Amino acid sequence: MNAAAKILHPLSPLLRDPVPSLAPNRYWDADWYARELREIWARNWNYIGRAAGFAAGTMHRRDVAGVNVVIVRSKSGELTAFHNVCPHRGSELCLTDVQPLRGNRILCPYHAWSFKADGTLASTGAASRAEGFDADALGLRQVALREWNGMVFVCPSEQSPSFGADNFFEVHELSNWPMNDLVEAYRETNIVEANWKVIWENFNECLHCPGVHPSLCSLIPVYKKGHLAPHDAGDWDPETAQPEPTLRPGARSWTLTGEPVAPDFPGLSDAERDAGQTYAVVLPTLFVVAHVDFVSIVSIRPLGPERTEVSGEVLVAPETLANPDFDVNQIVLFNTQVQNEDAAACEMNQRGLRSSPFEHGVLMPEEYQVREFHQWVQRQLIDGAAGGARNNREPLVAV
Ligand code: FES
Ligand SMILES: [Fe+2]
Repeated sequence: MNAAAKILHPLSPLLRDPVPSLAPNRYWDADWYARELREIWARNWNYIGRAAGFAAGTMHRRDVAGVNVVIVRSKSGELTAFHNVCPHRGSELCLTDVQPLRGNRILCPYHAWSFKADGTLASTGAASRAEGFDADALGLRQVALREWNGMVFVCPSEQSPSFGADNFFEVHELSNWPMNDLVEAYRETNIVEANWKVIWENFNECLHCPGVHPSLCSLIPVYKKGHLAPHDAGDWDPETAQPEPTLRPGARSWTLTGEPVAPDFPGLSDAERDAGQTYAVVLPTLFVVAHVDFVSIVSIRPLGPERTEVSGEVLVAPETLANPDFDVNQIVLFNTQVQNEDAAACEMNQRGLRSSPFEHGVLMPEEYQVREFHQWVQRQLIDGAAGGARNNREPLVAV
């Protein structure tokens, strides 16, 4: 035990001992990446977009953890997901990012079998049906889909986990934000040349904040100390210290000026207003940062061992978007800068890991959440290898 650990409050989250980080090859080895895609990403909920982005009477092709999925919004509004493959002889069904349904049917482009929006076989095109042909057994294979706070998630595994199960963060419900009513004011997608775990590790510590994020540190003073929260201080005492980080005096939101761009969402608690930021994390796919006037969604999609798609969405109230005085750049210029700073940090981390002469690095006391993330990854891999017997898995059910 080191000297500093002797004075820590018993409830301090800081690590008491140096802990090894992951071996560098886990950030670039193709076989390891394939294993993580199969046993972590394909067995968890993947964010695929906001519910409002799936118009009635359309189908959408998505690669979800290497699985070809079609998401269908029927004309009457039901949202379902299937493996994007025809049970006749295996053609892809939806050929592009988005296509209209044909008369509320999913039409296979090869031999014109058609399926109802619930996946049941409706017709076999020009083919006659032999005696004993079992149409009921030839529906589309469903993929688990669920909506949460206006966001859509799918899990391609036969057994999907309870939503937020085994997240090492409790998933904040954001119940005081009008999540279902918000509209998109801005969206940006970038490719970060780094392994997906590098991005989550970076999210889970603030030791990099003083050097990497000058504007964010000026908005959130505790970040300037390299702390995620006041309890990262070595002399933290829960009797006297505030629990959560707060914005600098006078600032109320993550904007260029610290001023909100819109009236506060009605219904927020005093604590939520005072904090200025509320995080909701759904591993491994996204985190939400909810503010008094807007909500930011950052989603992550692995594209390869050393390549990750990172998308940012800014959501506001419809009346805010309609207000001619609303200037989304007040939000975007601040948040994009922070995200670009993180992306550059992740890419330099990746380049170093790729050429690393060591077997693994070391986690410092303040990197307790990185440790929790590594443990989460490890649990997922053990659970995946065991066939998903643990981890509160639920059988695939119709939605
Ligand atoms: S493969 Fe789809 S109808 Fe033949
Ligand atoms: Fe950062």
